[in-house]
Amino acid sequence: MKPRVLVTRHVYPAAIAMLQEECIVDYHDSRDVLDPPRLQRKLQHAQGVVCQLTDAITAELIAGCPHLRVIANVAVGHDNIDVPAASARGIVVTNTPGVLTEATADLTFALLLATARRLPAAERFLRAGEWQRWDVDLLCGSDVHGRTLGLVGLGRIGQAVARRARGFHMRVLYSAPRPAPAELEQELQARHLPLDTLLQQSDFVSLHVPLRDDTRHLISIEQLCHMKRSAILLNTSRGPIVDEPALVAALEEGLLGGAGLDVFEHEPKVHPGLLALPNVVLLPHIGSATTSVRTLMCTLAASNCMAVLRGERPPHPVNAEVLG
Ligand code: DGY
Repeated sequence: MKPRVLVTRHVYPAAIAMLQEECIVDYHDSRDVLDPPRLQRKLQHAQGVVCQLTDAITAELIAGCPHLRVIANVAVGHDNIDVPAASARGIVVTNTPGVLTEATADLTFALLLATARRLPAAERFLRAGEWQRWDVDLLCGSDVHGRTLGLVGLGRIGQAVARRARGFHMRVLYSAPRPAPAELEQELQARHLPLDTLLQQSDFVSLHVPLRDDTRHLISIEQLCHMKRSAILLNTSRGPIVDEPALVAALEEGLLGGAGLDVFEHEPKVHPGLLALPNVVLLPHIGSATTSVRTLMCTLAASNCMAVLRGERPPHPVNAEVLG
């Protein structure tokens, strides 16, 4: 008997084709997010679910899914899933690291450049027909080359951003619970510092930590006050790492030079204060959004799901301890 798998939202077709070879697939081929009662109903008889960061896989939901064996997230982040509740039931949680590292680092650097050099404002100005002549002080921004980049977190994506920064002859600092191995520090030319010191010394601060209880609001008013008044904050990780009202207050009071944000505390809602500020660049969570990467994320989630249902070790378990 083939196992039943729910795919909660629209994915790239290659993933569905893979799943259909071995599973009975209930495909909710829609951009709408299933509300909790519908998700619960659809998961009643499923052994597997391929879900997205927009699906809240709560302890309550898990408790109502007696047959569930695998939760395969189409994302590297898994803060939408109650992993301890899944582990307690022996359900394997998987994610999609690796395939999105370089694309997310590219987008981080694009955001850094766009914010520093005011690209969206410049383009709006031109399209509005306001460009009359070249002026010596027209739309001047901040230098990037030779400046200091502070990375909060030096996982795969943080490292990939550091490699890009080297090409811009930037000085690279990082904060992390432990210093990286000496060879990695040497390769990246990156220096380990406590967070407060990194915030004081950096011209750009880029966040690359997962969302957990200990990283929620890691950047709040106290940390923002440590930053240079000219500094730019970049976030391509998870919105709630930053206390958004505190960031708005800091920007409004001129405590910070600007911000480039791809993620928000209450997506898809964006704090109205951010929308009103001229020195921020705002993107709709597109860090990994290239067609090839998003296709790979979908097929990797399908592979993870199918491996567990076959009784094999999936490529990317989050709670490997339940595999025994
Ligand atoms: C992730 O994978 O966690 C991103 O936020 C979406 O690519």
